[in-house]
Amino acid sequence: MFPRKVGSAWEIFTPAKLNLYLEVLGPPVAGFHPLETLMVPVRIFDQLRWTENFSSGPKLQIRELLAKGDLLSGLVPTDGKNLVLQATSALARAAGVEPRGVFELVKRIPVQAGLGGGSSDAAAALRLANACWNIHYSPKRLSQLAAGLGSDIPFFLKSEAAICRGRGEQVEPVAGLPRMHFVLVKPPVGLATPEVFGRLERGELMNTEQAAVSSARLTLLIEALRRGALAEAGRWMVNRLEPAARQLTPWIARLRSVLAPYGCLGLLMTGSGTTYVAVMWSARQARRIARVLAGMNLGNVFATSSC
Ligand code: C5P
Repeated sequence: MFPRKVGSAWEIFTPAKLNLYLEVLGPPVAGFHPLETLMVPVRIFDQLRWTENFSSGPKLQIRELLAKGDLLSGLVPTDGKNLVLQATSALARAAGVEPRGVFELVKRIPVQAGLGGGSSDAAAALRLANACWNIHYSPKRLSQLAAGLGSDIPFFLKSEAAICRGRGEQVEPVAGLPRMHFVLVKPPVGLATPEVFGRLERGELMNTEQAAVSSARLTLLIEALRRGALAEAGRWMVNRLEPAARQLTPWIARLRSVLAPYGCLGLLMTGSGTTYVAVMWSARQARRIARVLAGMNLGNVFATSSC
């Protein structure tokens, strides 16, 4: 997960994330809802590679592996709208360097899935370009740039378990969590983040008193995880965006009822959806249940674990 030199190229692997807790603390401020969320990186990786090319400006080539169809459907922009190019041009502008080279992105993380794929690619691009263009910005400076590009991008600069607050850009690392095992199901439909936030009902937004209760609950969740009391932790896992996502697609309720009988320790949607997360006892149990689910026409099924 660090940029490394491979011959004359540079490359970096960058993970997906899960939200094991997501509370919306109030109405939007300047277009963004204040959040409190626990994010953990998981072992589904996109790969970004950079090679020198002196003949023209920066180029982006994208291949997809597991996330079949996302490129064809136009959900992954291949032009300047792609977060990889947006991030690298923002960095080049800030540092006063000429952007150059070819970026090759290999996508395994599905899009519109609540897995943070685009943000992860953007953070990888910042770290890669920071190294290969010899800019050497500090993590703090990169983080400031990242926050201007998207709410989840600062989290992915480190890709360590963290509580994220503000609009998501204030990252407080959380140490001491155990390795966790998951089954993820990404149905054939995705959801756009602004649409899901737009469906939040007033009653789902917290007032100051409730926000304090949220912090207490999140502390209980983290303490239970640290003790390895996963079943107890599972009871504190909640995603306040889930009712909003349910209004937009029947897949959310369907996935919950498909996964519920498997004896999962925790069960919730990640981010703004549509991926549904089942917390498992072991890697073996995750693989076994993923094999069963893979034959049920539910979309992409992953057995994975936290990084
Ligand atoms: O920052 P990001 O590009 O991920 O946000 C996309 C959109 O999601 C925002 O424009 C906003 O509509 C919504 N959002 C929000 N509150 C947040 C994060 C995102 O309302 N904390």
